[in-house]
Amino acid sequence: MRFSLKTIPLVLALLASSLSSAHAGGHVYSASNPKWKTECGACHLAYPPQLLPAESWRAMMTQLDKHFGADASLDVTTASEIRAFLEANAGGNKREATGKPTLRITETRWFKHEHEEVPARVWSSPAVKQPSNCAACHTQAERGDFSERSLRVPR
Ligand code: HEC
Ligand code: HEC
Repeated sequence: MRFSLKTIPLVLALLASSLSSAHAGGHVYSASNPKWKTECGACHLAYPPQLLPAESWRAMMTQLDKHFGADASLDVTTASEIRAFLEANAGGNKREATGKPTLRITETRWFKHEHEEVPARVWSSPAVKQPSNCAACHTQAERGDFSERSLRVPR
């Protein structure tokens, strides 16, 4: 490309957009699987696989009949497809100090750290009810977007 004064704004715009998408990329999770979306999104948000390590998903997928007090059982084929998807896209080394896999995203250290500024009264407010209700604040959570841009914390 031959550089002229005219191309500078274009180059700057491209640079800015690649920088902002690189940043957003850290908190926008695009991996998807139709069975995961349907089955794991039936009762709550289909939580992105990146938010827990593989060992947590593995532990969760072997006890779906006792899933946080609910029965989320699936047939063997569907369960193994979803489990493979979750493990393939799982987050990095987020093992907890206890050495036991954490089943709740909301109990991981990174979650508590990212959310330490959210006051207790907001967590229990009627609009939120519980921390696992991500979409109460992350308005684009359904699309895997947890970036600051789409964040609206109810008062
Ligand atoms: C029959 C309803 C139902 C289905 C289907 C279901 N879940 Fe859940 N899930 C629940 C309930 C109830 C909770 C606990 C909600 C709470 O107390 O926050 C929960 C909580 C969770 C949490 C912890 C949220 C937190 O606090 O961090 C994860 C992770 C999760 N489910 C993943 C899955 C996956 C993966 C699937 C698909 C294999 C799935 N769920 C399918 C009912 C369901
Ligand atoms: C009560 C509102 C609220 C709820 C509910 C909530 N969050 Fe957040 N979340 C926040 C706030 C506030 C931040 C901090 C943004 C900042 O200061 O960078 C945040 C930050 C994040 C970040 C880091 C984003 C970034 O750009 O730094 C991720 C990822 C995230 N939340 C995921 C989740 C998930 C997953 C759930 C549900 C299991 C959830 N959050 C539930 C309010 C909430």
